[in-house]
Amino acid sequence: MKLINIIYTTIFFTTLAFSQTSMCFKENHKDLSSISNTALDGGECKGLYSLEDMKKQNWKIEDINISQNKNGKTYIYILKKNETTISSLDEEKIEKRIMQRLKERKKQEVEEKKQEIKYTMSKNGKELYINKCQKCHGINADIKAQNTSRPLVDLNYSDMKTAIRDYTLDDYDRGRAFLMKPYAIMLSSRNLKNVYSYIQSLSKEKKVKKEKKKKEETK
Ligand code: HEC
Repeated sequence: MKLINIIYTTIFFTTLAFSQTSMCFKENHKDLSSISNTALDGGECKGLYSLEDMKKQNWKIEDINISQNKNGKTYIYILKKNETTISSLDEEKIEKRIMQRLKERKKQEVEEKKQEIKYTMSKNGKELYINKCQKCHGINADIKAQNTSRPLVDLNYSDMKTAIRDYTLDDYDRGRAFLMKPYAIMLSSRNLKNVYSYIQSLSKEKKVKKEKKKKEETK
């Protein structure tokens, strides 16, 4: 829908820019029946084209004035033409503009989709984290569980994934692995991604808060 609007708006402006008016006339003409096929003087008619010729060139009658004198009638025509043919240059411009907008929209859509996924993951992860992880790893995931683990906010996804996998394989122990192993076993890879997403959102919140505090302090 919006795309069509863009095209219409562009054509509309082009049309306006090319709208033309011309005045043609014939003095002292006697025969009413032949006037439309008589070459007219003035304007774009140039003594060459009749009203019929002009119509064929897309001119339309905007106004007519007929006056009588002793030698016959004088016909004055105001003609108007809307140039709807768009030059190839304009077409190129329009096409470019449309492609540009489409690209921008696509980008925006992808970004929105990403945000949506992140939000859902983080929401699901939040529930799991609060129920299963928070009591040892802290509300903000920034403490060392049992004084042995690293704060989870400091870990990237690959660190976390490797650690969880290695707990299930009895291949990782910072001194209290037996406490962590049951949780590592029940953690599906999807849940791990969700929890990671949630922890990232916590660290983002923390950064924002920190910056706010900094700003207030420097005020
Ligand atoms: C009963 C307390 C407890 C719970 C609940 C718990 N953990 Fe742990 N977690 C630990 C301890 C203790 C360690 C450190 C183990 C060791 O010594 O290697 C640890 C280590 C980890 C590590 C590795 C950290 C590192 O430094 O490499 C990750 C990742 C982790 N936990 C994630 C989770 C997640 C996700 C949950 C929730 C699903 C969770 N933990 C629930 C106690 C817990």
